[in-house]
Amino acid sequence: MNATTQNAKASNATYSDLREWVEQVDRLGELTTIRGADRDLEIPGIWETVSREGGGIAPALLFDDIPGYPAGFRILFGELESVRRLAMTLRLEMKGADILSCVRACRDRLRKMTLLPPRKLASGAISENVESGSEIDLYKFPVPQHHEQDGGRFFGTGHCVISRDPDEGWVNLGTYRCMLLDRRSLCLHMSAGRDGRTMMNKYFTRGEPFKVAVALGTDPALYLASTMTIPWGVSEYDFAGGLKGDPMEVIEGPRTKLPLPANAEIVVEGECRPGDTHLEGPFGEWAGYYANCGLSPVHEPIIHIKTLLYRSSPIFTCSQPAKPPSDLFAQGVFRSALIWDELEKAGVPNVRGVWCELAGGTRLFNIVSLKQAYPGHSRQAGIIASQCGSGVYIGRYTVVVDDDIDITDMKDVIWAISTRSDPVRSLEITRRGRSSSADPAVAPDVKVTSHNPDHTFTSKAIIDACWPYEWINRAYPVAQVSPELSRRILTKWGEQLKLNGHGSQ
Ligand SMILES: Cc1cc2nc3c(=O)[nH]c(=O)nc-3n(C[C@H](O)[C@H](O)[C@H](O)COP(=O)(O)O)c2cc1C
Repeated sequence: MNATTQNAKASNATYSDLREWVEQVDRLGELTTIRGADRDLEIPGIWETVSREGGGIAPALLFDDIPGYPAGFRILFGELESVRRLAMTLRLEMKGADILSCVRACRDRLRKMTLLPPRKLASGAISENVESGSEIDLYKFPVPQHHEQDGGRFFGTGHCVISRDPDEGWVNLGTYRCMLLDRRSLCLHMSAGRDGRTMMNKYFTRGEPFKVAVALGTDPALYLASTMTIPWGVSEYDFAGGLKGDPMEVIEGPRTKLPLPANAEIVVEGECRPGDTHLEGPFGEWAGYYANCGLSPVHEPIIHIKTLLYRSSPIFTCSQPAKPPSDLFAQGVFRSALIWDELEKAGVPNVRGVWCELAGGTRLFNIVSLKQAYPGHSRQAGIIASQCGSGVYIGRYTVVVDDDIDITDMKDVIWAISTRSDPVRSLEITRRGRSSSADPAVAPDVKVTSHNPDHTFTSKAIIDACWPYEWINRAYPVAQVSPELSRRILTKWGEQLKLNGHGSQ
């Protein structure tokens, strides 16, 4: 039994590092290994195609025998893009196998969990190879070019960027893309308002360097936490520990003294300096466009790498932002759970579900279902969901429907919008709301002339597709085979007609 297996046995977790996690996924039957595919365009393109075919739900893909690299230098895509992998990773207590049961289980976990600070170790698997200064060569890893029109290869797409707040001392992890510039430098893209960027600005205002570490192949629970918007001041290390029910393990970074994930696959430590920038991008983004500034690169801070730590035969983790629904499933589940929680905390009763639709990039088209209890209830839910912390980032359309609608089925949602809403009565528009440099509906001229692509605004629409409260008790009956009749038909005719029962609930 090796050290990591012993650690897993001593805790609640079913795995203790990414390698054990990959084995578990393989046992679940959700891992596909592909050999001989090319690093640039082909590997990311295979993942994007598989993910798109599955509507955003797909097996994890592990690429090995990558031409030009030693066997065993692997690339992993699609860590958490299925209900079963998410459930296994976080040991979720699921009451059903469907997406909304998964959202519910994640929401329960968020409500019940307590923050668990990381356990500090003297060394970890990540210390297997440690290099510094001129020994460092990031080209030894299969860093891919993801999309045809990208401006380069990206080292960080499925990773965590680690930094410490200079005033409060807490440690943030965020997933902010890192473009490969040369053997020892990366370029870092952090949108306005990101915790990492706020921290960097504080150092720069004092004329001090901003120390960072970039970790790939971490515990998938830590990667997930790093992609989630959690309150300022809460470290994603503590949050991930709570989410998984098992503390993360860290070692002290030799150069930055930042806590580094002890069993990650690859970690680099370095620093950004005030005024020291390089052209970054373009890079295909989650909304399905090159929306930052079209195909023009933008100046972003350079990370000068001082230390490289990696495990032998490392697994290089990636994600593929692209036209949805690619690579967004775990984001959709957790953002839905977080918005649901925020609605309840704001005092909105009877919420029956929230779903941040993958086709809207999990940020642009969110749906709330509720059982209406009083006049104005559905409007209240829509306005709060569109402006709460977890929903406000662009958050363009929020649809509110009655609880008979399956909010994870867009045919049902469109049916509700088109039959129960009336544009004049049902649309609410708020103006000058939070947008982003990634917002494709903001004109390129605005991003260029403001000299800061983040100085943007969007309006937000609430589509109240609930039956009007004043005549809800006289709402028109739905014309559809009843569940009772449907069951009888399935029993009698299901086999002959190859019916699976999805057509009638
Ligand atoms: C795959 C992926 C890539 C992302 N890339 C970026 C990025 O390049 N820059 C950025 O500002 N946010 C990016 N995000 C969003 C942030 O990771 C996310 O908003 C996170 O909550 C930020 O952490 P923070 O709240 O600690 O700043 C990405 C998210 C995902 C899932």
